[in-house]
Amino acid sequence: VKLFPDTADIDAIRQAARWGVLDGVTTNPTLFAKVGGSYDDVLTQICRITPGPVSAEVVAEEVDGMLREGRHFAALAPNVVVKVPMCEAGLEAIARLAHEHVMTNCTLIFSANQGLLAAKAGASFLSPFVGRLDDINEDGMETVRDIAAIVRLHGLPVEVLVASIRSPRHVTEAALAGAHIATVPNEVLRRMIRHPLTEAGIVRFRQDWQAVHGGARPTA
Ligand code: E4P
Repeated sequence: VKLFPDTADIDAIRQAARWGVLDGVTTNPTLFAKVGGSYDDVLTQICRITPGPVSAEVVAEEVDGMLREGRHFAALAPNVVVKVPMCEAGLEAIARLAHEHVMTNCTLIFSANQGLLAAKAGASFLSPFVGRLDDINEDGMETVRDIAAIVRLHGLPVEVLVASIRSPRHVTEAALAGAHIATVPNEVLRRMIRHPLTEAGIVRFRQDWQAVHGGARPTA
């Protein structure tokens, strides 16, 4: 499963690259609002340091505006993926952009049928939102499992990108469901690294080493 930081924060993206877990990036207008600055500048910088796809979301709500914004983002870097919301205008924009060979990520997917439609329209990525479904007492991961099964069963040329992840458990379940990608907030990525037994183990190994060798290092 590929991991994408779910952020527009350059430092967090660079950190993920140093950890060796940067496969791509997803952003949205809320995440851009948190970092400020020029949308184009930040997006270009993210695309430069990211080896894989970088999703940039349109804010227009009608087809022409979505196409205008999508083409603008796509011209900024070769790894830009235009993120388009699931709705009638969004489907039309996805179909038109696919025709122009522009990659799209259909966002705000909350049902298997929405995923099916976006895949048929020609989206390159489907983004089912797990956390927001859980928030309204539905089972977000069930939608992910359904979409992943449909994609597998029919061999659809699209990647399932699990979004709105709130916990490390969501990442494990997304991977087990056969999703291609999990997009992960920075804090969740850090929580995936940590385990109390790992931390206790590091302390114990240090103490046992020091008991015999004091402050000397193996290479000293
Ligand atoms: C990323 O593609 C989505 O926009 C993001 O995961 C949404 O997360 P949220 O539901 O926590 O805002």
